[in-house]
Parts: sequence; structure tokens; C-alpha cells
Amino acid sequence: MSSSRTTPLRLAVLASGRGSNLQAIIDAIESGQVNARIAAIVSNKKDAIALDRARTHGLTDVFVDPKPFAGRPDSREAYDRALLEILQQHDVELVLLAGYMKIVTPVLVNAYANRMMNIHPSLLPSFPGLDVQKKALDWGCKLAGCTVHFVTEGVDEGPIIIQAAVPILDNDTPETLAARILVQEHKIYPRAVQLFAEDRLHVDGRRVVIAGAKPDGEAIISSI
Ligand code: GAR
Repeated sequence: MSSSRTTPLRLAVLASGRGSNLQAIIDAIESGQVNARIAAIVSNKKDAIALDRARTHGLTDVFVDPKPFAGRPDSREAYDRALLEILQQHDVELVLLAGYMKIVTPVLVNAYANRMMNIHPSLLPSFPGLDVQKKALDWGCKLAGCTVHFVTEGVDEGPIIIQAAVPILDNDTPETLAARILVQEHKIYPRAVQLFAEDRLHVDGRRVVIAGAKPDGEAIISSI
């Protein structure tokens, strides 16, 4: 594994649900493919499976209840200030959103500018938001995929780091398509984290330049 770092990159993973992307990151770290350590796994859902995964692997799990913040005019920002405090307490260098179903505010986005990533199950900028596998099917797309991007204020809008494409098959349902995309998510998210750990990601406007990348310029997938 080539890395310019001597100490592992300190990560926090924010997750609301099942946490399969979190698991892919944990596995990649444990197998030595990613030079990082997860300093905290944070959820806005008390019963998130992601928090169980944290405990199974002896990692710090933190539930931050949104309820005490509800009802105030700055509830979302106040919630993010509480998260930021936790991230700073754990000296987090890179924040990963992994099925984190809450919109992050500028409080977090600005504190972690170009140091916060998200994974999204579409080939952005097509289909931001929710239910995107169904939207790709309904549109009649022949290819779908997933995107790892840096997080900016606009939802699913930040500079793209890696994408992977999969074919859409005639008999696909949103569920079968989501499962095919998820396999790729689990590959590209750890890869993006390792590129960050190797200090190979440089943001130039909307573009993320990957130092030492050697794309061959050929199409690597077509739908048939
Ligand atoms: C993943 O498919 C991820 O791309 C998606 O939620 C799922 C979480 O699964 N995220 C979004 O739609 C964000 N806009 P996981 O909890 O098993 O990682």
C-alpha cells in the first residue's frame, strides 16, 4: 500500500441506517487496503444498524438525538454544531456520509470543506435526491451507477471524485438495480478514501484532479 502518511487518516462516518458502506470501509481498513482509522461512527437514529456494526468492531458509536434541537429556528445548524464538537473532540480529518439521511448545513460543510465525502446511488448530476434507482428506470436509462463526491451546500452537487457505472437490465426493479449499484458503491468508496489518505485528490473548481491516475481514455462499459 503506498501512502504519504505515517499515521492513519482519522475518519468519522455519519450513517442513518443499514451501514453497508460503513462495513465496506471497515473491511477495507481491516484488510489494509485503506490507511485510516474510524475515530467515531455517528448517527441521528438510535437504532441504526450502523451503530451495531461500530460496536461489533470495537469502534466508538455516538447517537446524537435530533429531538432536543427540534422546534428552534436554527435546529439543523444547532444539531450540526453538536456534531462538529464531536468530530473535533475526535480529531477527525475526513468525514464520510454513508447513507446519512439528513441534509448537512454550512456549519459542517464549511468546517470540513473538501474534507467531507458522500456516496450517492446515481451517476450525478443525473438523479440527485431520493428514490434515484426508480427514477433511472422510469427515465429509460441504459446505464446507472454511483458517485462519490465532496460535500458542498447544494444537495448531491459537490465535486465528483469517482463514479462507477452498471447496466440497467430489462427485468430490473428498483431493488435489483439498487443491489447491483451497491456492489460498486462498496468498491469506490474505500478507493476514494484511500486516494484522500494518499493526498492524491486536488479540487480545482468543480473538478477533482487525481494525482497519478492513468485512465486509458477508452469506454469501459456499454449497456450491451
Ligand atoms: C446507499 O445506497 C447510498 O448510496 C445511499 O443510501 C444507501 C445507504 O446504504 N445514499 C443516498 O441515497 C444519499 N443521497 P448503506 O446504509 O447500506 O450504506
